[in-house]
Amino acid sequence: MKKKVFSGAQPSGMLTIGNYIGAIKNFVALQDEYDATYCIVNQHAITVPQDPEELKMRTRGLAALYVACGVDPNKSTIFVQSEVPAHAQAAWIVQCNTYIGELERMTQYKDKSAKQDAVSAGLLTYPPLMVADIILYDADLVPVGEDQKQHLELTRDFVQRFNNRYHADLVMPEPLIPKAGGRIMSLQDPTKKMSKSDTNQKGFISMLDEPKQIRKKIKSAKTDSSGVIEFDQENKPGISNLLTIFANFSGKSIPQLEEEFADSGYGDFKERLADAVIAVLEPIQERYYKLMASEELDYILDQGAKRANDYANGTLKRMENAIGLNR
Ligand code: TYM
Repeated sequence: MKKKVFSGAQPSGMLTIGNYIGAIKNFVALQDEYDATYCIVNQHAITVPQDPEELKMRTRGLAALYVACGVDPNKSTIFVQSEVPAHAQAAWIVQCNTYIGELERMTQYKDKSAKQDAVSAGLLTYPPLMVADIILYDADLVPVGEDQKQHLELTRDFVQRFNNRYHADLVMPEPLIPKAGGRIMSLQDPTKKMSKSDTNQKGFISMLDEPKQIRKKIKSAKTDSSGVIEFDQENKPGISNLLTIFANFSGKSIPQLEEEFADSGYGDFKERLADAVIAVLEPIQERYYKLMASEELDYILDQGAKRANDYANGTLKRMENAIGLNR
């Protein structure tokens, strides 16, 4: 039997090249070898306020983007989280077997709650929903960026606890984090993570940015004054981040790029980087706009929801039986 992969992204803003490098590229790479399931986690998105119309549009948009990036609906199950009620049901069971202290320690919770006046309970109990997402599909592997590592550790702690407590058989998942690209940084502040919800638009490149915008944003990316193109995360975080992005968009290694640009300045390097990013994003954007205008996308999501419901309901039953939520 094939091993299983599960992952997801939030429709809380247009995906950035950080999401693409950290996660989506691996969604595509893993689907041949694994039984893959990819979710648009719209229930995660409502832990912070969302405009209903926008959320709806972004949900469809994110599905289209998965497919446009190369997630193949004939190989992978693609679905919308709220269309599979087992996620919320399993999340309740997870919450009842997770400690508040564990949740309060999550750095993402600490960061996000510090930025808000009114903190929803959902922001605290968001990781149990993520745990539920993963365990419902018996995932062996979860491709994510570095920022989700702590949530994966929580998932592993939960699985161990649940299996011990209830003699259950939940599958222990492993994170898969890219070595180069697990944490793409903001173009404006290379000590901060690139984020789709950054208020400074120049900090990130969205998957739908036009070539002109991409070039402009890369040109204005913060670097240092040495003018030497070399990877040195600590002393030259800006150029190191650009090298990581370049490697991911060109298929070349970082040492290869350092050699290729040994005699070049930052200006030239940035032009070539923009070319590489545009060459990958342009065909993705073309496919995206075609899909958004077609009915194919709804067919894909309907089929995906059916398959996901079938699988997830089976696991939920196993969990309920294990803890005595049955007659
Ligand atoms: P989200 O929507 O914030 O991000 C989607 C994926 O992109 C990765 N990522 C990055 N990778 C590299 N550099 C960056 N700057 C960067 N920013 C984001 C994230 O690590 C993630 O893999 N909680 C998750 C969504 C989720 C999930 C799940 C993931 C919900 N349930 C179950 C896996 C399994 C999140 O908020 O991702």
